[in-house]
Amino acid sequence: MRIAHTTAEIRRQLSPLRSRGKSIAFVPTMGCLHKGHLSLIEKAKEEADIVVVSIYVNPLQFGPNEDLEQYPRPFDQDARLCAEAGVDFIFHPANLYPKAGPKITLTVEKLSDCLCGANRPGHFDGVVTVVNLLFNIVQPDIAVFGEKDWQQLAIIRRMVADLQMPIEIIGSPTIREADGLAKSSRNRYLSDHDRRQAIALSKALLGMQELAAAGEKDIKTLKQRAHATLADAGIRAEYLDIRSARSLKNKRKLNKQPARAFIAAKVGNARLIDNMPLPLA
Ligand code: PAJ
Repeated sequence: MRIAHTTAEIRRQLSPLRSRGKSIAFVPTMGCLHKGHLSLIEKAKEEADIVVVSIYVNPLQFGPNEDLEQYPRPFDQDARLCAEAGVDFIFHPANLYPKAGPKITLTVEKLSDCLCGANRPGHFDGVVTVVNLLFNIVQPDIAVFGEKDWQQLAIIRRMVADLQMPIEIIGSPTIREADGLAKSSRNRYLSDHDRRQAIALSKALLGMQELAAAGEKDIKTLKQRAHATLADAGIRAEYLDIRSARSLKNKRKLNKQPARAFIAAKVGNARLIDNMPLPLA
């Protein structure tokens, strides 16, 4: 495994492989890798000859009062995990932007306004700006993203389609702890008490899945059940929503169009998000 710290370095390393016809799969991350990230790497290995992982805590996607400074950066541990997982290249730049900040930022309209976008203004502009930049640098054939961040995945699919990038985007299922909590680098902010509370997010989503599978189609009723589960655990949702899976548009009733339930909530010091599909009976 090789580690590149600059754009020039990773370009130099990848270009001969590309000219030899090797396919490249890319997994962008902010590091502090866990089994969720490792599952994306595994998927990437199945799909291409070469796997590139980027580790970059992107300042552009953090709000002024968010956890940019605090975000964990255990690089040596991440590098070891990548090596064990069979990653070929890590791209670990110190900074990707000009000193005065980027003069070009991207926005994927509509999809970025709801859910996390409504509560984190500018967040998804930061995400698509860095992912576009990383795609330009790495020029992968395939890129793998987690369904854990469903809205991010939907936005990136849209960016790639609208900019006609020759990159196949693959979504990979959410990896969870044994009790259902979605794995996240931010779970390490949770105290023991918070950790017990946090189970309510996946429980609330599973409760809605059960109701939907039993034939309930009314979104309001489904949401009420989930709000009650969260309230029992002492959690108030930042948002709790059921939307069309691809367009992220609001729905009033479940119908044949695939739907997805989304929750964000602050638990202790951690802002947690989770989502699940809603089946029809
Ligand atoms: P990060 O939070 O490090 O996540 C990197 C990738 O891992 C994302 O595609 C995310 O959806 C996926 N992931 C995180 N937890 C997961 C889980 N429990 N199961 C499956 N996949 C999981 O997402 C980002 O970084 C950044 O926004 C980034 C795309 C790198 C741009 O800066």
